[in-house]
Amino acid sequence: MEDGRAELIVRDIVDSLREVIRRHGVTYPEYRRAVGFVMAAAERGELPLLCDVVLETAVDEAGGPGLRVPGATDSNVEGPFFAAGAPDLGGRADDGGPVALPMRPDEPGDRLVFSGTVRSAAGGAVPGAVLDLWQADAAGAYSRFAPGLPEWNLRGRVTAGADGAFAVRTVVPAPYDIPNEPHTARILELLGLGLHRPAHLHVRLEADGFEPLTTQVYFAGDPWLDQDCVGACRPSLVTKIEAANGDGYTCRFDFVLSPAG
Ligand code: BEZ
Ligand code: FE
Repeated sequence: MEDGRAELIVRDIVDSLREVIRRHGVTYPEYRRAVGFVMAAAERGELPLLCDVVLETAVDEAGGPGLRVPGATDSNVEGPFFAAGAPDLGGRADDGGPVALPMRPDEPGDRLVFSGTVRSAAGGAVPGAVLDLWQADAAGAYSRFAPGLPEWNLRGRVTAGADGAFAVRTVVPAPYDIPNEPHTARILELLGLGLHRPAHLHVRLEADGFEPLTTQVYFAGDPWLDQDCVGACRPSLVTKIEAANGDGYTCRFDFVLSPAG
């Protein structure tokens, strides 16, 4: 961050905190306790989660330098569970069907085929877009963060075809509770919120000539859509999950990318 901008933002943060202290008449013991609270959260390695829960949605809504054009898919928070370097799964499976995310042979949960297209805001297909996908399993756990799961379980990079179409075989992710870390849970409690997040698929899209897009896809009817503990869910990102003929479920989402600025 360049110095002038850092100066403006830091000044505003400090002014805002001082104003809260004066307005509420914060006492010395309360102030020392607050400092201890932040130190204890940092010592436990809990700060990235706490910050993502409380602040990341505002960062996403602030929208960076405003590169998103009208009609493009809304972005959404990345959250703390992304891992770079997921396996490259290519495009279609050998039989031309959906490509499968890495999963255990006995992966619990309902089968799901997630398909759609990647298009430009101008309307054309975006051939060869790469979708980096990550999701919780049917128990609400993320590989690389919860113990006992294969390293890249339910994570992978999928390439859209020449027509911008993609299709992925996976399982329906569960709504889940974010890790019950004491400082994060206490802040959420004070905000009148629980630990719940509605079920979602995380997607990070990249394509030559387009702005990268990090977003999430949610499912209509999820009981937690309006009570997302991070307040991230947007109506434009909610899709229908439907029973497939015979086996499992399907859902569709068409992504629209902004041209690179
Ligand atoms: C998540 O999607 O898992 C998440 C996002 C923001 C904060 C915490 C969790
Ligand atoms: Fe998530």
